[in-house]
Amino acid sequence: MTIDQGTARAELGVIGGSGLYALLDEVTEVRVDTPYGPPSDALFVGEVAGRRVAFLPRHGRGHGLPPHRINYRANLWALHSLGVRQVLGPCAVGGLREEYGPGTLLVPDQFVDRTAGRVQTYYDGQPLPDGSVPGVVHVPMADPYCPAGRRAVLEAARESAWEPVDGGALVVIEGPRFSTRAESRWFTANGWSAVGMTGHPEAVLARELGLCYTSSALVTDHDAGVEAGDGVTHAEVLEVFAGNVGRLRTVLFKALERLPAERDCVCSHALDGVATGLPGVGEG
Ligand code: ADE
Repeated sequence: MTIDQGTARAELGVIGGSGLYALLDEVTEVRVDTPYGPPSDALFVGEVAGRRVAFLPRHGRGHGLPPHRINYRANLWALHSLGVRQVLGPCAVGGLREEYGPGTLLVPDQFVDRTAGRVQTYYDGQPLPDGSVPGVVHVPMADPYCPAGRRAVLEAARESAWEPVDGGALVVIEGPRFSTRAESRWFTANGWSAVGMTGHPEAVLARELGLCYTSSALVTDHDAGVEAGDGVTHAEVLEVFAGNVGRLRTVLFKALERLPAERDCVCSHALDGVATGLPGVGEG
């Protein structure tokens, strides 16, 4: 069934990346419009363990959107407007260390932004179509990912006998090309753990809306600096992702069940006392 937003509600959200275009079996397809334009696709709303979950394929269901063309603001806004307050953001990444080979699940605790000019804020002083004007807001970003969400994913992975890497920095490049060997070696030399194209600005925008956001990065390849061969290809990424998507889905389901009913984390307090100027966000 497809409906316009209306009364559709969800408390938890998942933004699926390359190779994860659907999550739930029984869903209502909800079309959501936002002040920032349309999100990547309809939101697919269903239930996991009695909790309403909205799934959004980050690249669109046919993977028509490259990372730099994704309307990240619309995506996070659409989830927020359905009532979602905790978001899981799985993505495919390249491993930057020998020991992080294909099939590794990494739950980063930091990111490094190497994108180029992606819109990464709701607070840019521009009025929305309804005339509301966002305030000047600087959200804390020292710890970009939700501690409760990270715990939920780590525990869910361990329970699924998939020992995760707990922490590490995800460097996010602009893409859509992969990195050169020199770039990749530089990332590794800086101590960063994995490289992807979509991890930013999702976490930032989520924080700006007071949402909890947790990244779970599935390593599909050794990036060019670690790899002795010809370097990574998109086909390789999709093939390895497809081989792991079953267990990733299991981990996501278990993690959704474990997300706390009541939030009391840095993310939930990011907008305490802040006049955002945005309807329905923080103190409004
Ligand atoms: N996504 C999957 N593998 C990647 C890589 N090596 N670089 C950037 N994004 C990726």
